Amino acid sequence: MAANLPLISIIFLSFCYVASSFDQVSFLQCFSLHPLQSNSTSKTITTRKDPTYISLLQSSIQNLRFLNTSSPSPQLIVTPVNPSQIQAAIVCSQKLGVHVRVRSGGHDYEGLSYVSQMPFIIIDLRNMRLVEVDVEKERAWVETGATVGELYYAISQRSKVLGFPAGSCPTVGVGGQVSGGGVGTIFRKYGLAADNVIDAKIVDVNGKVLDRKAMGEDLFWAIRGGGGASFGVIFAWKFVLVPVPPTVTVFEVGKTIEEDATMLLYKWQNVAHKFHEDLFLHAVTGVVTPSSSLANKTISISFGGLYLGKIEKLLPSIQESFPELGLTRENCTEMSWIQSVLYFAGFSQDGSPEVLLNRTQSSRSFFKAKSDYVMEPISQRALQGLWNKLIEDETSYLILTPYGGVMSQISDSATPFPHRGGNMYQIQYMVTWDSEEENNQKINWMRELYDYMAPYVSRFPRAAYMNYRDLDLGRNYVINTTYAQASVWGLKYFRGNFKRLVKVKTASDPANFFWNEQSFPVLSPGRR
Ligand SMILES: Cc1cc2nc3c(=O)[nH]c(=O)nc-3n(C[C@H](O)[C@H](O)[C@H](O)COP(=O)(O)OP(=O)(O)OC[C@H]3O[C@@H](n4cnc5c(N)ncnc54)[C@H](O)[C@@H]3O)c2cc1C
Ligand SMILES: *[C@@H]1O[C@H](CO)[C@@H](O)[C@H](O)[C@H]1NC(C)=O
Ligand SMILES: *[C@@H]1O[C@H](CO)[C@@H](O)[C@H](O)[C@H]1NC(C)=O
Ligand SMILES: *[C@@H]1O[C@H](CO)[C@@H](O)[C@H](O)[C@H]1NC(C)=O
Ligand SMILES: *[C@@H]1O[C@H](CO)[C@@H](O)[C@H](O)[C@H]1NC(C)=O
Ligand SMILES: *[C@@H]1O[C@H](CO)[C@@H](O)[C@H](O)[C@H]1NC(C)=O
Ligand SMILES: *[C@@H]1O[C@H](CO)[C@@H](O)[C@H](O)[C@H]1NC(C)=O
Repeated sequence: MAANLPLISIIFLSFCYVASSFDQVSFLQCFSLHPLQSNSTSKTITTRKDPTYISLLQSSIQNLRFLNTSSPSPQLIVTPVNPSQIQAAIVCSQKLGVHVRVRSGGHDYEGLSYVSQMPFIIIDLRNMRLVEVDVEKERAWVETGATVGELYYAISQRSKVLGFPAGSCPTVGVGGQVSGGGVGTIFRKYGLAADNVIDAKIVDVNGKVLDRKAMGEDLFWAIRGGGGASFGVIFAWKFVLVPVPPTVTVFEVGKTIEEDATMLLYKWQNVAHKFHEDLFLHAVTGVVTPSSSLANKTISISFGGLYLGKIEKLLPSIQESFPELGLTRENCTEMSWIQSVLYFAGFSQDGSPEVLLNRTQSSRSFFKAKSDYVMEPISQRALQGLWNKLIEDETSYLILTPYGGVMSQISDSATPFPHRGGNMYQIQYMVTWDSEEENNQKINWMRELYDYMAPYVSRFPRAAYMNYRDLDLGRNYVINTTYAQASVWGLKYFRGNFKRLVKVKTASDPANFFWNEQSFPVLSPGRR
């Protein structure tokens, strides 16, 4: 990070040559004349003069760090209602030399779906969110503007014994999450969301609509874990739905470090990734601030579980493999799968599942997150050091997600997501805050935490999950970033798959129209 200053001047220089002023009138003309689009531009395009511009721009922004007035804002926002309007937006952006950012749910940790240093427009897919569930065939076509909550809701309305293995937060967009992987509570049994994609529709850089057959297996491979943003605008996925039992069991056991949580977590590291794939048991840490000024702050660890079956089968198995947890019948609740979705989303499992259709997060904050993969157990002594660090910031927490199960059986190169066998668990580090003034202090604190953890996590490369995007891992400062420069972040997210991703990028978008701070570089002609 010491290199910040010189890099800023590089950004400035390298962006000059594209910084011609944006010709909005010509864009609107181009868009309305596009033969395929439906001639109803009024609702489809929102310009800066439009009174709804600010609210439309800000509505799905999740990280308040990128909601400030000095963030560069788009020239206009296109909210297509059909693929032709996406085609028109792509063709016209290139004609007028303006960049494009694509947004589905707006949850990108670094704001890449709605902030760019170059003149840009946003294609926001919020109006394309049809979910078509075929119960007989156990398949669904899902438009990418849908949230995972809308997807789960639609499935549950049609069947009590079908589900889908995407993430836990219902407001996340299907477009961003599935193209980057998608880790959730049933992924030890069914893999990532991306592992369950069997077809997709994309508008490519030429403005062509391509399905799996037309795009070919290389591009179809790349968009299932490599992120969509480097390749085009994905507007629909075809998913395989997965069976879920009519009754599942959830449970939660919380302990502080005074109650031996460190020993429990130490044990958890060794067992959670070996459990039967029907059992998911994650650990979430938090800082507890006591009400009495005499007591000290402490760390609590909540062990939260989902079992794809009934209590009577869960109890004996966990009492055998993890007796230290002290799980009892009273700690467990049986419910339907969709109720477990509500439960893990933080809603009451007895409430109406319609809350899954609400696209607004209950609370938004400023945040900085990072991720790691753990391949060997971390000692209790090192964990104690971790607690000492976490206790410095009350808003910090970690989410430890166990891998194993089917995740270890899928090959590292089956999709771009490479974090399969050999990984015991994934750590997500999170710190939040409420005002811009705290940005530097909080981000620096997070970097210290990350430095502390370096000896205990995966190395060469120190791997990371691309859906927990982190620009500290490296970024493209220029459009013509080289392979070597991009591999700094690329190998962390994609390990051995990075090379193939760069080749697919080079073949599908040779002029690098779909550029962002962490998009794949295009190989120079000599290296193709
Ligand atoms: C509160 C919260 C909870 C989360 N929980 C989980 C979880 O349980 N499991 C998990 O795996 N991840 C989780 N994530 C991470 C999440 O999966 C990623 O942030 C994901 O990329 C967000 O997708 P989005 O569509 O909402 O984001 P966006 O910001 O809209 O997009 C993210 C990236 O994908 C690109 N993109 C989006 N849509 C398209 C498209 N249609 N075509 C091409 N490119 C596109 C964007 O340009 C951007 O680069 C969580 C994030 C948050 C903020
Ligand atoms: C849009 O309008 C043009 C000119 O009036 C017309 O030629 C074209 O067919 C229309 N497109 C659609 C999809 O209706
Ligand atoms: C405002 O947002 C930009 C990114 O859009 C960020 O780089 C900058 O640090 C933010 N400014 C402040 C004062 O937080
Ligand atoms: C688990 O159940 C026991 C009783 O069997 C109870 O004492 C304990 O508080 C419960 N734990 C939680 C986290 O609910
Ligand atoms: C709080 O921490 C201090 C210093 O470590 C220790 O001396 C004291 O006993 C602790 N208080 C409680 C209530 O645990
Ligand atoms: C959606 O959720 C937000 C945040 O929790 C809440 O303020 C809003 O009222 C909800 N909208 C509806 C229609 O329930
Ligand atoms: C990138 O492009 C710019 C502008 O065309 C050029 O000046 C620069 O030398 C190029 N850099 C590399 C690494 O190719």
